[in-house]
Amino acid sequence: MVYNLFRLVFLACGCCPILVNSFVQQCEMKENERVFLQNHVREMFRFGFQSYIQAAYPRDNLKPLSCDGVDSMGGLWVTLVDNLDTLLILEEYSWFKYYVQELESSFNLNVNRTVNVFETTIRVLGGLLSSHVLLTEASQVVGLDQDFFPEYSGSLLRIARELADRFLPAFDTPTGIPFGSIHLMNGVDTGESRIACTAGAGTLLLEFGTLSRLTGDDKYYQVAYRAMKSLFQRASSRGLVGKHIDIKSGKWLYSSTGIGGDADSYFEYLLKGFALFGDYELLKMFQSCHSSIRNHLWKDPWYLDSDLEKESIVSLIQSALSAFFPSLEVLCGNTNTASKSYKAFYSIFSKFGMLPEAFHIRKRTPVMGLDGYPLRPELWESNFYLLWATKDPEWLSHIRNAIWSLENLTKTDCGYASIADVQQHQRGDMMESFFLSETCKYLFFSLTPDHWIYSGRFILSTEAHPFLIPPAGIVASKKEEKNELAHSAKCRRKSKLKCAEKCGLYSDDSD
Ligand SMILES: *[C@@H]1O[C@H](CO)[C@@H](O)[C@H](O)[C@H]1NC(C)=O
Ligand SMILES: *[C@@H]1O[C@H](CO)[C@@H](O)[C@H](O)[C@H]1NC(C)=O
Repeated sequence: MVYNLFRLVFLACGCCPILVNSFVQQCEMKENERVFLQNHVREMFRFGFQSYIQAAYPRDNLKPLSCDGVDSMGGLWVTLVDNLDTLLILEEYSWFKYYVQELESSFNLNVNRTVNVFETTIRVLGGLLSSHVLLTEASQVVGLDQDFFPEYSGSLLRIARELADRFLPAFDTPTGIPFGSIHLMNGVDTGESRIACTAGAGTLLLEFGTLSRLTGDDKYYQVAYRAMKSLFQRASSRGLVGKHIDIKSGKWLYSSTGIGGDADSYFEYLLKGFALFGDYELLKMFQSCHSSIRNHLWKDPWYLDSDLEKESIVSLIQSALSAFFPSLEVLCGNTNTASKSYKAFYSIFSKFGMLPEAFHIRKRTPVMGLDGYPLRPELWESNFYLLWATKDPEWLSHIRNAIWSLENLTKTDCGYASIADVQQHQRGDMMESFFLSETCKYLFFSLTPDHWIYSGRFILSTEAHPFLIPPAGIVASKKEEKNELAHSAKCRRKSKLKCAEKCGLYSDDSD
């Protein structure tokens, strides 16, 4: 299987020698190769999903080496729910209908478990809501027939609401910044930590806001929005937000910060929250954060961690999660910066065949203890946005290498395995739900230029769930700024990339 793929790929290329052990080939991609790889990604998804169903379902995640399942995220069928929309996107319709009905009849939130609010929101709530919207409001864009699924009566939305209702007590804090975890039956556990991370507390708005829009109940949008605003209000004199905060006192825990793990998707949701709901306060907060990041953290071509208050770079370590940031630069219209940053990450990918969790930017070596690769999507997410924005075939040729690496290095007899260390390529016993719901999805989008995702009607969440941009800023319409709203609604009909430029989100690309 693996060898066939490569032989075919090389034949299709015809123009370039195989660079053994370098993980990189240069050459453009011909149409027949694109179609071949597109089908191959479908097969990857099918194999990964089927392995999960056979060995792990309904448990949260697949353990590919033991070919077993594990409830590592509260027992909420996480890989299944996280991938309902992937089933629609890849047109696996019979699976989709079957598992929606299973959820309807057997899914139970009344369980004696404590779950992480952020992870459960982006994977479970996001999976439920985006699938509901694709199935209902967006069915025409998605190309579903009128009689696609007549039995569907809104069960995904009902479950989503019940789940979000169980999360609400977490937001009852002096700062509005939510507790990180919540017990599904009893609310916040006594003894729950009062330390929250910025990404965890500030990456809930796309899901909570969409729930408000669909139910007509503003409270979900409001709690998520208040948390984001509360974090922003505590930005340092340099305009930087920290990574960990005490939710009672509102004080940052450490003096350093950056754009990687524990902060990352907060910035993403400021910008995407604006794009989805048209609230200009979000845009202003994003612009402030972004210009501080560019002024203080951007050390071409990396974004380095720095002190919150003082001019001082605190580390030459870059985390793999930071590889998502070029996607935000693209959305701001800064494709040159995005491209430089992405290429820096890609050069590390090229060295190891995958991106280690953290690495030293000068030595170009993985950090001890953070030298694995858990099948993360961020590099390919940025690649997807660059390809979308520029149509440059160079980006597409990187997708070939991504597939090559996943197939050759992570595939097992029972799904795809995380990698325990990127130098020896030893396998770990975990396939996180985001491998199927994000990594495979972005690769598929990149290889499918006529996909409806490019209609500009959707904003992809931090877990790659497509959220429909509402026809008019329903949530935001309660606020003033009618003119600006009209302006943003006009832009929204175009592709969101164009929109970013047109709305002047950012055009001061420094290079
Ligand atoms: C690809 O896989 C084959 C067989 O598992 C292995 O011999 C080869 O070294 C792999 N290539 C790389 C670059 O790891
Ligand atoms: C919930 O789980 C905890 C620990 O796992 C256990 O001590 C407790 O008795 C359980 N409560 C119920 C109502 O089952």
